[in-house]
Amino acid sequence: MITGIKGFNDILPGEVERWQHIEATARRVFGLYGFAEIRIPILEKTDLFRRSIGDTTDIVEKEMYSFVDKGENAVTMRPEGTASVMRAYIEHKLYAQDPVAKLYYMGPMFRYERPQKGRYRQFHQIGAEVTGVTDPKVDAQVLTMLCHFFAELGLSEPTLQINSLGCPECRPVYRETLKTFLRERLDQLCDDCKRRYETNPLRALDCKSAHCKEATAGAPAMLDHLCAGCDDHFAATRRHLERAGTIYAINNRMVRGLDYYTRTTFELVTGLLGAQSAVAAGGRYDGLIADLGGPAISGIGFAMGVERVALLLGGQEFARRPDLFIAALGGESQDEAFRLMCGLQRLGVSVEMDYEGKSLKSQMRRSDKFNARFTLIIGGDELVNGKAVLKAMDTGTQGDVVLDPAVIAEQIR
Ligand code: HAM
Repeated sequence: MITGIKGFNDILPGEVERWQHIEATARRVFGLYGFAEIRIPILEKTDLFRRSIGDTTDIVEKEMYSFVDKGENAVTMRPEGTASVMRAYIEHKLYAQDPVAKLYYMGPMFRYERPQKGRYRQFHQIGAEVTGVTDPKVDAQVLTMLCHFFAELGLSEPTLQINSLGCPECRPVYRETLKTFLRERLDQLCDDCKRRYETNPLRALDCKSAHCKEATAGAPAMLDHLCAGCDDHFAATRRHLERAGTIYAINNRMVRGLDYYTRTTFELVTGLLGAQSAVAAGGRYDGLIADLGGPAISGIGFAMGVERVALLLGGQEFARRPDLFIAALGGESQDEAFRLMCGLQRLGVSVEMDYEGKSLKSQMRRSDKFNARFTLIIGGDELVNGKAVLKAMDTGTQGDVVLDPAVIAEQIR
């Protein structure tokens, strides 16, 4: 038997309905905020991710599915969507008429991580990006939309945490301040953080290791070292969030694992998924479009992990019930049931029947399994009379109905 690859999952019927519900809710809510869908390829040039996510990040250093294709091109299966969306935005000059674009996407992403609950090698994101607005109203709007999406799903978790990572003016200064603090505690840090001390010292702040947590307690915070512009931007973002009625907490140790972020960063976190606490995350990336060769246009966005959202939705039932199950006794009745089924399906009614003419008992068991809203039982007498009993399964009420698809469809609606 050939099995699937570790960390790559099938999403089977029964589960897929939950996914469809999540996707449909995202499309509906994002539509209210004026977002249009963009579909981006799964394979991109490796350089795109190196340049955007950053060479010293875990994703680029350790997790990318990169290979050389038959044409000797270095390509990578996308580990995230933002870089591709911005590549498309620049390549197709979407900014030419209007720099402001509101785009959303959904689909599989690939990272070679250690698979566990909520963490997979092929996982799925639903993401949204806004370009061309630096005003903090848009930061608040993007966060409000994300919280609105979770509220529409009926989830009270996750909760929103925000931070600011400053800009190319204030972050390097803060970085040196943090390095000075860490220098004296270097031997207490985990090997990863020791290694990243020169290249990416901020990561020590959100490292999960207990030693790093202890060593960095009382470390200087970016929020206390923002330049005036970033400080104003963060304060205004907070005011707009309050105006929008969006509840948040400040987490001044949030760092994010991708290098392109500037200013506002955020995570929607939950305590319900064990080690995988981030259900959605994102932030502002005001330098990315220019770094990728485009004009100096700002951006902000987020992505959620669909597997994690589905886990939070838990056992809720999303499977679609068929409208009607037709049970039929005998060959002729089976043929009549088949004719009715085809006619009804064309009229937009979802119908199931037993194709193999099993016993009535077995057909009724199947009907129970489908949990159809109505059942119709056709035997010899019904064929002769041209009528059968249509039963509403939830209420138990029943009545005769003529064996005509249009009449049955009318009764069911
Ligand atoms: P990220 O934090 O790397 O950000 O991923 C966003 C979300 O994807 C995470 O919060 C998590 O729910 C989900 N996720 C990440 N890795 C895995 C995995 N291995 N298995 C399951 N779920 C996972 C980004 O990707 C940015 N592009 C977000 C963004 C958009 N920033 C600005 N715009």
